[in-house]
This record gives sequence, structure tokens and C-alpha cells, in this order.
Amino acid sequence: MAFVPYDRPVRTAFIGLGRIYDLNVRAYLNNPDVEVVALVDPSEERRAQRRADWPGVATFASASELAASGLDVDAVEALLPIPLHTDGVVELLGYGWHVNLQKPMCNDLPSAQRMLDAARANGNLLRVMENYLFYEPLRKLKQTVESGELGEVTGYHMKMVASGRGGWDVPASSYEWQFRQMQRGRGILLFDDGWHKLATAVWLFGPVKEVRAWVGGTEVVPGVEIDAPTTVVWEHHRGIRGVWDVTLAVDMYLRSDYYTNDERWEVTGRKGFARVNRCTGRGIQQPSLEVYVDGEMRSFHALDDDWASSFRDSGRHWLRWLHTGDGPLWWSGEEAVDVLRFALAAYASSAAGGVGVDPASME
Ligand SMILES: NC(=O)c1ccc[n+]([C@@H]2O[C@H](COP(=O)([O-])OP(=O)(O)OC[C@H]3O[C@@H](n4cnc5c(N)ncnc54)[C@H](O)[C@@H]3O)[C@@H](O)[C@H]2O)c1
Repeated sequence: MAFVPYDRPVRTAFIGLGRIYDLNVRAYLNNPDVEVVALVDPSEERRAQRRADWPGVATFASASELAASGLDVDAVEALLPIPLHTDGVVELLGYGWHVNLQKPMCNDLPSAQRMLDAARANGNLLRVMENYLFYEPLRKLKQTVESGELGEVTGYHMKMVASGRGGWDVPASSYEWQFRQMQRGRGILLFDDGWHKLATAVWLFGPVKEVRAWVGGTEVVPGVEIDAPTTVVWEHHRGIRGVWDVTLAVDMYLRSDYYTNDERWEVTGRKGFARVNRCTGRGIQQPSLEVYVDGEMRSFHALDDDWASSFRDSGRHWLRWLHTGDGPLWWSGEEAVDVLRFALAAYASSAAGGVGVDPASME
């Protein structure tokens, strides 16, 4: 698609002003690449709350009201509940706006195709933002791997522990749509938050050719089951194997400014290893990246390891991209479908007893 970069600040609207707006907004504050022109949310309370960030900016209860207002909008930051992603994005693209969407893109491949078709039909861009690719310790991990200092990569491990205590408040209304997702077999750990982990695997080591998974469940309150313990293993086309374990620690207190998610990434090479010790929460309070080679451990003490900064940098990347059109979108809609296929292959494998599934075979 021929995209013509803007030679002026991009006129943008926020669609959805809930919990994650608090982090996404960081890309927009004091950014000369953008002019925020509207805020949209059906909740009057949210509109009133967020108006304080953008005095004088118009607010609307729905995207259709914004579209009918005649205000010029180039792009939108879509921060909608997941069950609304597909219809919401098709609608937003239909108004002629470029869309920066939150993950997970959607629940299945036909929905993803609808979104891609809508982008193509309207000549607009669909980006599925992936803030983890902008988290400095992970970027430095990728750089370390690619520098060759670990030697040839022989495997890697990701770990995620969801704890039940600590962190920021999540509105009860968010849990309502999360429960609906769970009932549709799209769990909060493997599919929602896990989307990020699968995305980092594809980003680090490229396309995946085979996935094996064992998706478990733990009832936390009557009728509500969280999708852990879960283990996923896979092999990339280039032969590297990865493993990711997802564990629930309901009573564990985790210090976090955001969600209570304790995460690690560890890449092993023939000569050494590199490990990112944390991301969303502050579980292991050592340097966020450590690199071991030839009997020596190097610790990185000055990386920007505030998870919120990854949202700031991902959003800035998008807004700059709209100015220049250069470089990867991280992710384009098509690239995000590869992450979706990875997740769907994990479900298909688990349902079939853990057999190997090629993500390309998913329909
Ligand atoms: N990147 C990350 O790490 C990360 C973290 C958390 C959430 N998210 C994603 O962000 C999105 C939003 O999550 P959240 O936690 O902010 O949810 P939330 O429930 O806190 O907020 C959603 C907001 O959307 C509003 N809304 C509902 N219908 C709407 C409509 N038709 N038009 C406009 N607004 C509407 C709701 O009133 C609410 O204010 C989801 O896709 C979620 O997966 C991403």
C-alpha cells in the first residue's frame, strides 16, 4: 500500500480511556509529532478524568459521534476491550483512520482477515502495537544475541508467574470482558498477557515451525479458572528451541507499579547466556539484564527498565513512523497474525494431547 507520510503533526484520537490509557498516553504527552484532537469513551467518568490531560480537546461517547462531528482525524489509538477489537477496528478503519491497536489482535484467524481486509479496502494502516519490543532490557538482550558474544544460540527459556497480590488496581469492568474471553477459551495468561511472550519469541528468533503445549487451569474463585499451569515449547525454522512456563502464585505478593507479573527471558548460547530478570513487576531486583560469558558476569545497571517506558517508546515509534514511513512497524497487521497463529497452534496442540502443530496449518 502506498503510504504518504504526514508533513505535520498527526491528528490523533484515543478510542477507549481505561486502565491502559495511563501508559499509552506517555507517548503522546509533549510529543511534537502528534496533536491529540479527541477522546472517546462511553463512560462519562473516564471522559471527565482524561479531559484533565488534554484541556480543550473534544470528547465523545462513541467513535461514530466523533466521525459525524466533522473533526479531522488521521489516526487513532484503539484501547478497546478485546471482545470489541474486530468490529471496532473495522469501524475505525472505515472512517478513514489509521489504527494503532492493542494486543491481542483478536481471537481467531477469520477475524484477523476481516481486519486486514478492512485496512486494505480503506487504504489505511493497521498496526498491532507490541510494547515489549521497546523494553530496553529486551532490546539489549536481542542486541547481545545478535552480536554473537554468546556463541551460537542453543536454546532459550521464558518464565512468567502471575501473582495475586500487589500492583495497581484493575477496574472490575475490565474483569467482566476478561471473563468473557476466558469463557471463549482465550485465557488471560496464555492468550492475553502471553501474546507478548510469543511476540518476543518471533521477534528474537523468527518464524516458528512447530509448537507443543499443555494448557492447564486453576479455579481461583468458583466458576473462574485461570489458564495455569501451562507450558509451551516450540522450534523456530532456524532450529532454535524455546520453552515458556506459566505459573500462578495466587497468594504471593509481588512488588509492581503495574500488573503483578514476574517475568524472565534467558537465552543460552554455546559460550554463555544472557538473562532479563524482570519486566512488568519488580520480582528479581538485580540489574535487569545479566550476561555471562567465559567465567565473567556483566550486569547492566542503567537500562530504562520501567515497563511503562516501553509503551512510551512504542507509541512514539508509531507516531514517528507516520511522519517517515521508514522501518518496521512492530507489528504490522500481517506480522501480528504470525503471533496469533503461534497462540492458536498452542491451543490446538494442547487439545490434541501435546502433539506438534505447525502454526502455518492453523485456519
Ligand atoms: N500492552 C499491554 O501490556 C496491555 C496491558 C493491558 C491491557 N492491554 C490491552 O488494552 C486494551 C484495553 O485494556 P484496558 O485494560 O485499558 O481495559 P479497560 O476495561 O480498563 O478499558 C477499556 C475502556 O474502553 C471503553 N470502551 C468500551 N467500549 C467502547 C467503545 N465502543 N468505544 C470506545 N471506548 C469503549 C470502556 O468504557 C473502558 O474505559 C485491551 O486490548 C487490552 O488487551 C494491553
